[in-house]
Amino acid sequence: MKIEQSLPPCQHSALGYLCGPFPKGLSKRVYIESYGCQMNVSDSEVVASILAKDGYTPVKSAEEADLVLLNTCSIREKAEYTVMQRINEMNNLKASNKELKVGVLGCMAERMREDLLEKKKVVDLVVGPDAYRTLPELLEKVGTGQKAVNVLLSREETYSEIEPVRLDTNGVSAFVTIMRGCDNMCAFCVVPFTRGRERSRDPHTIVDECRKLVAQGYREVTLLGQNVDSYRWNIDSRGNVKDPDLPVTDFADLLDMVARVSPLLRVRYSTSHPKDMTDKVLAVMARYDNICKYIHLPVQSGSSQVLHRMNRGYDRAWYLERIASIRKHMPDCAISTDIIAGFCGETEEEHRETLTLMESVAYDMAFMFKYSERPKTLAARKYPDDVPEEVKGRRLQEIIDVQKRSSSARMLGYIGQVHEVLVEGVSKRSAEHLYGRNTQNAVVILSRWWNGTELKPGMFVTTEITNATAGSLQGRIIGIMNEQPVNA
Ligand code: 5AD
Ligand code: SF4
Repeated sequence: MKIEQSLPPCQHSALGYLCGPFPKGLSKRVYIESYGCQMNVSDSEVVASILAKDGYTPVKSAEEADLVLLNTCSIREKAEYTVMQRINEMNNLKASNKELKVGVLGCMAERMREDLLEKKKVVDLVVGPDAYRTLPELLEKVGTGQKAVNVLLSREETYSEIEPVRLDTNGVSAFVTIMRGCDNMCAFCVVPFTRGRERSRDPHTIVDECRKLVAQGYREVTLLGQNVDSYRWNIDSRGNVKDPDLPVTDFADLLDMVARVSPLLRVRYSTSHPKDMTDKVLAVMARYDNICKYIHLPVQSGSSQVLHRMNRGYDRAWYLERIASIRKHMPDCAISTDIIAGFCGETEEEHRETLTLMESVAYDMAFMFKYSERPKTLAARKYPDDVPEEVKGRRLQEIIDVQKRSSSARMLGYIGQVHEVLVEGVSKRSAEHLYGRNTQNAVVILSRWWNGTELKPGMFVTTEITNATAGSLQGRIIGIMNEQPVNA
């Protein structure tokens, strides 16, 4: 089980592992640190690719670098606070390396450009999520001792043809961004202000990227978007076809295309939106064994009134109907969610509706947060942030308690079942064990050896689940499904 109280997944993943070849004789070294969501991790890989063409090689620590880039997150106040602390730490690094340049990328660059440039002397460069192509010119300016900034948002930019440099990779799973921005305007969310309007990436460039990943030995892709269900190519938001000579592609069609890239490639995606998730998508998921049976479907609240204030576009009944449809199409599908405790005006009764909804869905996993007011959002303009901090804390704890019970029950339920596991790497706790994931995204710990064969990342193994904790499963290997390790 994964419980996040105040920061989203991957909140401090230090990137820098270089996996691709670079032109020889280069001396510039970049260290990229990503905060926030998977989308930022994926963006950092696009940035590394743009910088590789400009002569930069990624390194594994800020201390080794000539350029440090912090790819930042604004989703909650605490996320921004963490980055601000890190920016302050850069003063020490600069004191020992006068040539060091420091850049802030991503959502905070977009939201706080003036503050960063005026109040944080250590920052040389501020670049928003749609302006990464201009990094080489901006760095040239920085090289002359000036500060450089570009936070222009775009309606078109999808970095579609840029081949990301995989950073911090296990060589097995990769992120593939399929769309950018968000048009939804959920009342609590800063993303539409920091990442701009929604736009989808050309499906053929997505399929090409996935094919290349398979050829390099990757065995899993996660298709990323703020709201993948509104992915649309060659059709505008009113439903009009743009080019009659080209096919229209929606998310279900795209999933179908990616699933057919190779039966050896597992496909995941994130994030779905309950108002847009169609049965067509569920039917495609059910049809292909290599599309993982796992859906992240953020509910945010179990109360229809709160959902209305949040401007989520669905109510409790609609959400529960979507859950029923998932279960009908794929009875073994795992479901996770995001929940916000103490949104503006939330009453005790409304909070209890969240608890009862959680009980009835019985989520496999949840990311749970206290509401954090974000400047400029609909909620900040319209509603007072009036649930006291200690009440938010208590409600969050009650939400976490329900989730703990439900995660444990889901994991225990897997004991005795036979699962296909994709091996991802060596277990942190023991070099004699490997870890992987089943289709439901649960971590499975396995022995490193089976009948004299050493298992390698990238192998699919059939496993009987023998034990479970709230956080992981243990499996007994029954057989190896493909013996082709990655990058063999
Ligand atoms: N306060 C707390 N949580 C938030 N999220 C988004 N904005 C806020 C906010 N202002 C949560 C939502 C979203 C997840 C990525 O972060 O649950 O689904
Ligand atoms: Fe934010 Fe809502 Fe868009 Fe998700 S769907 S990024 S919560 S506005």
